[in-house]
Amino acid sequence: MNILVTGGAGYIGSHVCLSLLDAGYNITVIDDLSSGQKKLIPDKVEFIQANINDTNKLNKLFQKKSFNTLMHFAGFVQVEESVKFPEKYFNNNTKNATILFETCINNGLKNIIFSSTAAVYGNPNKELIHEGATLNPLNPYGESKVQTENKLIKMQKNNNFNYIILRYFNVAGADPKLRSGLISKKPTHLIKIASQAAIGKLNSVTIFGNDYNTHDGTAIRDYIHVSDLADIHVKSLEYILEKKQSKILNCGYGKGYSVKEVLDTLNRVCNNKIYIKYGNRRSGDAVSLVSNTNQLMKTISWTPKYNDLETILKTSIKWENKIQNEKIL
Ligand code: UFG
Repeated sequence: MNILVTGGAGYIGSHVCLSLLDAGYNITVIDDLSSGQKKLIPDKVEFIQANINDTNKLNKLFQKKSFNTLMHFAGFVQVEESVKFPEKYFNNNTKNATILFETCINNGLKNIIFSSTAAVYGNPNKELIHEGATLNPLNPYGESKVQTENKLIKMQKNNNFNYIILRYFNVAGADPKLRSGLISKKPTHLIKIASQAAIGKLNSVTIFGNDYNTHDGTAIRDYIHVSDLADIHVKSLEYILEKKQSKILNCGYGKGYSVKEVLDTLNRVCNNKIYIKYGNRRSGDAVSLVSNTNQLMKTISWTPKYNDLETILKTSIKWENKIQNEKIL
């Protein structure tokens, strides 16, 4: 079965390629390598360097091969950048994504699995967020994803296809076999930064705000291991193929950790190597984002394998060591 994957050279896309290959699917990756890394695309994958809005290239591809499902990962993901350059986000994450969906549907594709984000919820005042919660994004990145979700939902009403929208919470860690992981020139993610500190690449980690209304004053997130998230994609694919139904699913473990807890756990794992500083809140940050996973668990038969913060951190540190030793970046 042929699966079309956009953004397969990126962090999450490359992990999903590994899981799809392990499950026996054939993959064609489309990636313009604007932020992805060619070395993260597994060998067994057909790779086409193109932007998702390149309708000519896509039409030619569909003439040559028939695809069962599109998994759409390609997109910009930096919240701060989206505030500075909102057009970049609406152009790529919404407009180009819509062109891609149209091209695929016009070519008879029947299933779309779309990468969305918990950023669509904004700053909800709830302990556990369910999929029906009000969407109130705090930045253009989240807004671009809301708009794309809405386009997809609308298109499905007028066309013969199904979608699964996956709203990722905080994705972290690396493939336990270290075949892939996060590569980033200017990392902003807490666990990436903390792992760089753990291997001595950074001197300290700053906690952005310790005056939030939480048990220790620092912000709370639901960290999910990237390989478990990849498995959610394989299970979602099985679901959409079998049930032929559309769904929106939160992707997290349903357990929150504060920034302080993440760093304390890391210090336990790496013998207190990290020096913690306190700074101001980062603008646009939510207080707490933790998923209600009822819908996810009810819909797909997924059993997480790495739902343990230490495991997430250890794989992340191992990956950081690997890319440092191999001078990747
Ligand atoms: N943080 C620090 N210090 C740092 C980096 C981060 O204290 O050096 C804090 C942040 O302020 C935040 C928490 O750690 O409270 C997590 O921050 P990340 O940057 O790791 O992740 P975000 O929650 O900001 O955003 C991520 C993705 C989004 C996604 C969101 C969903 O980048 O795309 O998770 O929860 F929408």
